[in-house]
Amino acid sequence: MHIHLSGDRQRVLVLLILLFFFLCYSFYLYTNLPVKRIKQDRDAAAGKLSWQKYNCNACHQVYGLGGYLGPDLTNVYSVRGPAYIEAFLKNGTGIMPDFHLKQGEIKNLLGFFRQLNASGKSDPKTFMLSYEGTIEQK
Ligand code: HEC
Repeated sequence: MHIHLSGDRQRVLVLLILLFFFLCYSFYLYTNLPVKRIKQDRDAAAGKLSWQKYNCNACHQVYGLGGYLGPDLTNVYSVRGPAYIEAFLKNGTGIMPDFHLKQGEIKNLLGFFRQLNASGKSDPKTFMLSYEGTIEQK
């Protein structure tokens, strides 16, 4: 059987086929994104507010975004550990200010760093580019 389509109809048909595949692909991507769901944690939520209140982001980065005077703190919790972080927050250093944080604020900030650390890795060297252009982390 030979189907003859006029130029316009052919174009519409091609467009519909492309649209169909575009929608299928979009649907596939959005339902398969490697997004982790992390339980909301009370300490972490309060710690995030302290992080904003003291504008830690002015000097530090989270996932590479922020100021560049201090280091990226996305994975500081697993790299340095809570005792090290607490000592830093209590005393500051020559360039890192001492904010005279209350013990509760320090506890909350530690919760924030714990949750942040669990959300992924910030070092691009550890990223794996997958076939469809998304990024996977080990
Ligand atoms: C004025 C800039 C500045 C601000 C604001 C600042 N920091 Fe820092 N921070 C630094 C610098 C610089 C260092 C590295 C200091 C050093 O090694 O002596 C640092 C180091 C740290 C470290 C240790 C990181 C590591 O791997 O050694 C932690 C944890 C930290 N800061 C947390 C915070 C938190 C939490 C806040 C907000 C309450 C904050 N910082 C606000 C500048 C800042």
